[in-house]
Amino acid sequence: MNRRRTAILISGRGSNMRSLIEAARVPDFPAEIVLVASNRPDAPGLADAKQAGIATAAVDNKIYAGREEFEGPLQALFDIHRVDLICLAGFMRMLTAGFVERWSGRIINIHPALLPAYRGLNTHERALADGVKIHGCTVHFVVPAMDEGPIIAQAAIAVLNDDTAETLAARVLEEEHKLYPQALRIVASGDYSVDGNRVRSKLASASARV
Ligand code: GAR
Repeated sequence: MNRRRTAILISGRGSNMRSLIEAARVPDFPAEIVLVASNRPDAPGLADAKQAGIATAAVDNKIYAGREEFEGPLQALFDIHRVDLICLAGFMRMLTAGFVERWSGRIINIHPALLPAYRGLNTHERALADGVKIHGCTVHFVVPAMDEGPIIAQAAIAVLNDDTAETLAARVLEEEHKLYPQALRIVASGDYSVDGNRVRSKLASASARV
């Protein structure tokens, strides 16, 4: 099997990164993780990736004049490691339209909400403030607009009476850890089609605990 060479971009903790690394350990998984890169040299996830035997790199966005300048070395890393697919996993930087378009269909992101609801930050706080009863997470193809792009997979959970932003975030995160490997499996296997914002695949792409 020709496993797709996959890079993960992180900015912090890296728990989704760990779930992808874990899933890709299974020999029949259609992606292999060949690089973990962070824009934050102090991202705790980098040490975990190194420990898992994966090549790591820090490209500190602070030392570059702008987004394009930052993306130059990032792209060079992807070239060196012959990367086919990019997974954004808690990567908290906007990428330029040029970069995203170059990777169109080969770059995916996980977002802690049921898109198109709650794009942006503080999704759990905003969901609680709105009183929604169902919340969750989404993996989608990245397009130049933030938190938009064809939806690959979603998981939904019920909001409980005594939920706080922290308890809700923790339960959504558990779902993220299951969802992201499923979504990467779909994309890496190539077993899907895209029609506008609709992604169709024979592989599982939805779950609900409601
Ligand atoms: C995750 O909840 C992810 O969905 C979110 O950041 C967290 C990263 O956690 N991503 C975004 O908010 C992107 N806009 P992790 O570093 O432990 O995977």
